[in-house]
Amino acid sequence: MVKKDFVDTTDFTKEELMEMLELGILIKRNIKAGFPLDVLYHKSLGMIFEQSSTRTRVSFETAMTQLGGHAQYLAPGQIQLGGHETLSDTAKVLSRLVDILMARVIKHDSIMELAKESSVPVINGMSDYNHPTQELGDIITIYEHLPEGKTLENIKVVFVGDATQVCASLMMMITKMGGYFVHYGPKGFQLNEKHIKIAEENCRVSGGKFLITEDEEEALKDADFIYTDVWYGLYESELSYDERMKIFFPKYQVNMDMIKKASPNVKFMHCLPASREEEVTSEVLDSEYSIAFDEAENRLTAMRALLVYFMDKKDETKLICLKNLKEN
Ligand code: CP
Repeated sequence: MVKKDFVDTTDFTKEELMEMLELGILIKRNIKAGFPLDVLYHKSLGMIFEQSSTRTRVSFETAMTQLGGHAQYLAPGQIQLGGHETLSDTAKVLSRLVDILMARVIKHDSIMELAKESSVPVINGMSDYNHPTQELGDIITIYEHLPEGKTLENIKVVFVGDATQVCASLMMMITKMGGYFVHYGPKGFQLNEKHIKIAEENCRVSGGKFLITEDEEEALKDADFIYTDVWYGLYESELSYDERMKIFFPKYQVNMDMIKKASPNVKFMHCLPASREEEVTSEVLDSEYSIAFDEAENRLTAMRALLVYFMDKKDETKLICLKNLKEN
């Protein structure tokens, strides 16, 4: 039985998340091979954005088009959300008008309430707590770039810098899969107690490991993947340029010196958008180590999988894709 909403990956087992990952890769192969896939024909996705977006918005919209459906962009300030109409009424109304909803919200409570009050599936397009669609795209990217002889269970993934919602999400996914997750960041900007509890529980089930440290050598030794995000802080406590440089620069900037301290085959990841020459240098972002643009492409891989999965079309989609790929 498919759960109704995709709000938080802690609601899902490793097996369920692996099924989403494999579905994403299968659909990607089908589409890259040129086969049409109209499994969401005549279906409509409502996309609520309280914050701006490039990757999340465009990948959802492209995914719906490629799957035969349609997406409606409900921009900040263009619908009643946040006005006098309650979130609960918005959820009930939109449930009558579209087949599935996604929302990027400022407060995590908003996505929780939307999911609770909607009768259609709700996908979290990022909140101040987590970014689960990024998480799925990231694990697909990691899976496609695993070092030779390694699996998701024995990789070391190091997140460098501020404990953003992307950092928290990456921790949730890597520890769920049984890998080794390290957050290398300064005190005051590290993963919190709530995150640590989730990491502990995930590791208990999966056999994974996690570490939070300010020690560069310990963090980077044998790292298979180095990941970073901007140093802006979260929505309501955004840091000025001077503040963030004082806290994070130069120790937490991903540059070639840092890359050379990791495994020789290390890959660099970034959820993007990047602030070049702050958290990462252009030399790294544009280098052969970087898989950040594959990662951006895999937002689309993830969205297609999630739309199909949560609209209960996964079995039909798998059959169609396997038939197409077998016959050609
Ligand atoms: N990584 C990410 O979520 O990008 P957008 O903010 O452009 O959607």
